[in-house]
Amino acid sequence: MRKKIVAGNWKMNLDYNEGLSLFSEITNMVKDEITGHQEAVVCSPFIHLHSLVQLAKGYNKVSIGAQNAHQAESGAYTGEISAKMIKSVGAEYVILGHSERRQYFGETNQLLAQKVDTALKNGLKPIFCIGETLDERDGARHFEVIQTQLQEGIFHLDAESFAQLVIAYEPVWAIGTGKTASAEQAQEIHAHIRSEIAAKYDQATADSMTILYGGSCTPKNAPELFAQPDIDGGLIGGASLKSRDFVDIVKVFN
Ligand code: 13P
Repeated sequence: MRKKIVAGNWKMNLDYNEGLSLFSEITNMVKDEITGHQEAVVCSPFIHLHSLVQLAKGYNKVSIGAQNAHQAESGAYTGEISAKMIKSVGAEYVILGHSERRQYFGETNQLLAQKVDTALKNGLKPIFCIGETLDERDGARHFEVIQTQLQEGIFHLDAESFAQLVIAYEPVWAIGTGKTASAEQAQEIHAHIRSEIAAKYDQATADSMTILYGGSCTPKNAPELFAQPDIDGGLIGGASLKSRDFVDIVKVFN
């Protein structure tokens, strides 16, 4: 059975103290209620990572991730953070290829392929984001865009490395807009992603890949989305900044 994950992406929100207090609220509410093949992940700004890892220690189903990592191992890249640094504070995950990184920081599939390699080499599990813009969907190019993102971003990996990934489908038009993809729209793409993985690797690899949905996910729409056969959880932006909402989404799988 593949792992179910609800991951919060705090983006560039919450100062250090605000972040720690939100995380404490989350862990207090979650306690031991996360069951079975399920995991909650909080992807915070770099500043919070070390402290959150310490606070998460009593909760074996709560993990911590970063939101970006540089493609180089180390070097003269002023202001950047390496995968090794992230790993060294005990974080397990790193979001790579978020549409905001692609859009505002010019991250291409080629660059992301390098970031994925470096993250994996340093023992981090990438949460690799893909998804089409509104223009691309309106032009009926969403399948093609997703296929290219998979092919150029992660399909160079061997099967063993590929199995370390989590994939997140985040239609750009649904991010922070309050306009979520319908359960049918999301399921259609998730099934497509899984069939692409089966074609590239094999059915067992496809069947064990955790594929998350992201984009205006709330406690209200999560139950229907997560009930779809190919949706294995969510990558949550806005709602992950409210402890009650985030925990309610985590508990959808209980
Ligand atoms: P929202 O949940 O705020 O739409 O953000 C989704 C997202 O970008 C998560 O990575």
